[in-house]
Amino acid sequence: MARRWPADRPLRVLEVGAGTGGLTGALLPVLPADRTTYLYTDVSAYFLPRAQQRFARYDFVRYRTFDLDVDPVEQGLAEGGFDLVVAANSLHTGKDLTATLERIAALLAPGGRLLSIEHHHPEALIPWFGFLDSLLHHHTDHELRPGAILLPREEWPPLLERCGFTDLVQTGDDRASDLTSASVMLATAPRKPREPPPEPPVGPRGAAFVLVTEEPAEESLADSVAELLTADGRHAVRRVRADEDVREWRQEIGEPAEDLHLVLVLADRAPSGVAGLTEHTARRATLLRGLAQAREGRLPQGRTSNCGW
Ligand SMILES: C[S@@+](CC[C@H](N)C(=O)[O-])C[C@H]1O[C@@H](n2cnc3c(N)ncnc32)[C@H](O)[C@@H]1O
Repeated sequence: MARRWPADRPLRVLEVGAGTGGLTGALLPVLPADRTTYLYTDVSAYFLPRAQQRFARYDFVRYRTFDLDVDPVEQGLAEGGFDLVVAANSLHTGKDLTATLERIAALLAPGGRLLSIEHHHPEALIPWFGFLDSLLHHHTDHELRPGAILLPREEWPPLLERCGFTDLVQTGDDRASDLTSASVMLATAPRKPREPPPEPPVGPRGAAFVLVTEEPAEESLADSVAELLTADGRHAVRRVRADEDVREWRQEIGEPAEDLHLVLVLADRAPSGVAGLTEHTARRATLLRGLAQAREGRLPQGRTSNCGW
């Protein structure tokens, strides 16, 4: 790539997770110094002054922090701003590997290249990390990586493809993938710039939901339910605390409507003893009656309410 790069075009290179610069040291001497710009990055600023000293004679190198887990634009990098992204044993440090690769695809110009080296067996990380659980298991994409953070060799090509990369070449033996401890991969970014995300569907107004919570412990579940319900921008959600006065609910439950849904979020509490259970059951019965009354008062004639809990 370096040899064939046109003389009149800058070659814009980004290295992610550069750390102590092992790969950088091998790459800088082969890049065309008169037209390369090389951005040396790591999530930790710790590595930067040392790298600056070590690579001082390459004046086309710049140094800064960059976090694979954060939107590059938020970090001041332009979408489509690089022709080559290089990564030596650093892609897997992304907490969510799919999101990490999509961020890199977005940073590459159409047809740009990702060159990466990845180990595939967790034992390979022990010399760096020992058995530190927090480092080997700090990822969040457990469906993709149910065990430690390294991905088996044969799982990289389909993942890269799902993230929009094409023309993958990978070192190692396809017939004995599990025997390959590390591989080098070269992949091409989408040739067309990414499509903008689709506009939310413009449709008829959705339903109205009232989420009722009994106590503070349920608020985070109710937050998630509200987020899901409002995701497409059609449904309206109002929140009510069960310990508020029934008259307040009537206000909250609002105008008569057929498409009003009451969702009661109940904590999974098990009070001990007969007295506790009786009190708890009586309180819930009161709550249900209060809700039903508040709702019936607002229903159009002859309709029953939609309640879920
Ligand atoms: C296994 S080391 C590899 C370092 C270097 N590329 C090499 O081959 O020697 C992983 C590197 O990724 C960096 N890293 C960890 N989390 C990161 C993140 N979220 N974004 C960018 N780099 C990260 C670490 O600081 C570390 O330097």
